[in-house]
Amino acid sequence: MLADVVEYLTCPVCADGFDLGDRVLRCPQGHSFDIAKQGYVSLLIGSQAPGTADSTAMVAAREAFLGAGYFGPLSEAVADACRTDAKVVADAGAGTGHYLARALDRLPDAVGIALDVSKHAVRRAARAHPRLGAVVADVWRPLPVGDGTVDVLLNVFAPRNGAEFARVLGRDGTLIVVTPTSRHLEPLVERLGLLSVDESKERRVAESLSDHFVEAGRTVHEFGMTLGHEAIEAVVGMGPSAWHTDPEVMRRKITELPEKSNVAASFRMSIFHSRF
Ligand SMILES: C[S@@+](CC[C@H](N)C(=O)[O-])C[C@H]1O[C@@H](n2cnc3c(N)ncnc32)[C@H](O)[C@@H]1O
Ligand SMILES: [Zn+2]
Repeated sequence: MLADVVEYLTCPVCADGFDLGDRVLRCPQGHSFDIAKQGYVSLLIGSQAPGTADSTAMVAAREAFLGAGYFGPLSEAVADACRTDAKVVADAGAGTGHYLARALDRLPDAVGIALDVSKHAVRRAARAHPRLGAVVADVWRPLPVGDGTVDVLLNVFAPRNGAEFARVLGRDGTLIVVTPTSRHLEPLVERLGLLSVDESKERRVAESLSDHFVEAGRTVHEFGMTLGHEAIEAVVGMGPSAWHTDPEVMRRKITELPEKSNVAASFRMSIFHSRF
């Protein structure tokens, strides 16, 4: 619930802390933000959210696919990578809150902050775990989270803002970044003409964080999945190809696949520590 994490949130207008009122967060300067009936708060100010926010359909596809457990080994690996002494775990680009919730399952004394620019995603994240507070926020603007308040920050297939991540983590925090490798979703990428991950992705991730972080470790996690048409439609619908493909055309291509396909899941998980 938001009440668990209010002390770590900051006003996006003046950066002061918040008091929790009746369905409202209010800072000492009088800036106030209503808590939605689903329990999340939007701390986005100014212009509209960027066009990269996941749509309702993408969020529904993601919830169905992750809820069915297909990426279970990845959720386990991310939860395993969280320091057991973490008290505050945040997730930037948290989506439905799936990975953050699995991490909180392992850390009975920790609370979680799910940050995402899509209100459709945040609405779901708000009910992903009892110790999780969900906030609409844009990673390309100052995050509405206090300096050095986060012990572990997750970033799973989502945009990265090295300077802001370093600020909220402070000196001793740990950043866990998960990206797909070029083998992810083979052979569907070729058969369905999905967007592929280019080999330079790994280098670009490291470069975008190198001013603020040192990479302390990196592991690759690969496993096979047996997917029917419905699961394939969900995994395509929740990924970047959903932005570029007509869903009807994709559905037709999927029906031409065998009833079951063996599909690879392949991820790289990097652990970063602050440079300072
Ligand atoms: C591929 S999804 C991954 C979601 C989640 N981490 C997961 O793996 O299930 C990318 C997420 O990043 C969010 N996102 C995109 N641009 C963003 C931004 N500028 N600030 C915050 N979140 C953003 C999207 O709304 C979406 O939920
Ligand atoms: Zn304020």
